[in-house]
Amino acid sequence: MIDDLWYKNGVIYCLSVGSYMDANGDGVGDFKGLLRRLDYLHGLGITTIWLMPFQTSPGRDDGYDIADYYSVDARYGTLGDFVEFAHGCKQRGIRIIIDLVVNHTSDQHHWFKEARRDRTSPYRDWYVWSDKKPANADKGMVFPGVQKSTWTRDKEAGAYYFHRFYDFQPDLNTSNPHVQAEILKIMGFWIQLGVSGFRMDAVPFVIATKGAKVKKPVEQYDMLRAFREFLQWRQGDAIILAEANVLPKTDMEYFGRDADRMHMMFNFHVNQHLFYALASADSRPLAKALKATKPRPATAQWGLFLRNHDELDLGRLTKAQRDSVFRNFGPDKDMQLYDRGIRRRLAPMLGGDRRRLELAYSLMCTLPGTPVIRYGDEIAMGDDLSLPERNCARTPMQWSTEPHGGFTKSNKPACPVIDKGPYGYPHVNVAKQRRDPNSMLNWTERIVRMRKEVPEIGWGDFTIIPVRDPAVFIMRYDWRNNSVLFVHNLDEKPREIAFSAGLPDEAGAHLINLLAEDHSHADKRGQHRIVLEPYGYRWYRVGGLDYLLKRSDIDGDTVRGKKHPG
Ligand code: GLC
Repeated sequence: MIDDLWYKNGVIYCLSVGSYMDANGDGVGDFKGLLRRLDYLHGLGITTIWLMPFQTSPGRDDGYDIADYYSVDARYGTLGDFVEFAHGCKQRGIRIIIDLVVNHTSDQHHWFKEARRDRTSPYRDWYVWSDKKPANADKGMVFPGVQKSTWTRDKEAGAYYFHRFYDFQPDLNTSNPHVQAEILKIMGFWIQLGVSGFRMDAVPFVIATKGAKVKKPVEQYDMLRAFREFLQWRQGDAIILAEANVLPKTDMEYFGRDADRMHMMFNFHVNQHLFYALASADSRPLAKALKATKPRPATAQWGLFLRNHDELDLGRLTKAQRDSVFRNFGPDKDMQLYDRGIRRRLAPMLGGDRRRLELAYSLMCTLPGTPVIRYGDEIAMGDDLSLPERNCARTPMQWSTEPHGGFTKSNKPACPVIDKGPYGYPHVNVAKQRRDPNSMLNWTERIVRMRKEVPEIGWGDFTIIPVRDPAVFIMRYDWRNNSVLFVHNLDEKPREIAFSAGLPDEAGAHLINLLAEDHSHADKRGQHRIVLEPYGYRWYRVGGLDYLLKRSDIDGDTVRGKKHPG
């Protein structure tokens, strides 16, 4: 198989233009500001930027309510600024993927305005209508507790319209061929302007059958094939990364058995079990989740993340598991959201404990898939729980100790910068961490670099090495006669462990530590004995003696210093 599928061994960084860097001093981040920060991102080593929605929008769902797909919201700049930004990325070898939000539009989109105004408008059938209130109107809300129904009456239209999300986000009738053609046109437009693909929003809802008579929505998977086919024709190396929080048994439907649907999907299943593992120091459900999501076409890839811009959805865990995560990471009611998740950022969830943050990041970087970092997590930014719903974890990037964290020169940032407490910008900011070799930022930079140097994770086949202690989690990847092995201690207490690399004969005798000097050499029975600190982790390259002698990039001392019978 060709091995230049860039998304298999990249590191994705997700940011929203509005909260990253404000260049014109109006209190809102913009493309000009982002352009100035490209060298920072390049230095961090990320390979791809995922831009959250930046198109014209009333901004009632942070841009996920789009009013014009072929534009840049004036607050963020112009299409010209976007192209300058895209060029800046290209110069630095950074790829861009953007959100593709086509399950719904804003109710301010001219398609919807036309549709509600005139029953005979060609746009009428671009949305989903019902003359009477459907019986299931109070079911299927994505934002329970905030959203009251999925069908709302529109006076002007004299009918009810369907909205899976908030009432200002009318669902597009995605079964309509004209709507489908428009989706392709939107993709084509942004591909032409230099993006390498899309993070497709709410995919299960995009492809579901919709309508007042639909009792149980059915996914129309063929649509996914059509999206991919178009994209591949326009630009061979463009990808779609699907947001689809589905059960493992449907994963293959999304990837396509012939690898002809989504290139990537976020691994929500592993995400939730990973948080359970971090909360309970029990790796067994995580191991199960990894096995359940193992089947995928060779060219497909998982997106591996810790926190994203939404709530940490724990809906797939058992009640006991969910309660454990709530207890440990979000015990107060105002830390929780939509009856299913936690809205906090990663650092405060982990009590700001550097050891736990490194453990979490080390896991994210070594589980099968491509890591997706949320902006600000590289400096361990916090949240502002006084902001409503998911906004608490969407505060501006903290660059320095200047007013408003150097994010804006305005006295009125559109969203307040966190300025108080241990996560306030006077303590947590890029400038300070840049100067400190031991900072979270510099650690992240090192781990990102190492992750890219270990393509086995993105490409290889994994094996979970059995250990009796559930707090210890060991994985090995094999790819092209190379192996790497990762050990994690999920617990707050140290561990002394013995394990075998699980390879025949000599092959697993030497474990070369990729992050520190303490390599491990197996005893006569092939057992490695190591002591792991609380929340400790190890990244090893695996090799027998032959392998070590052959490799010129490994210090000769490593081989001479070890006690090996040969
Ligand atoms: C996705 C996004 C979320 C947004 C919703 C509606 O779930 O991640 O932020 O509110 O879609 O577009």
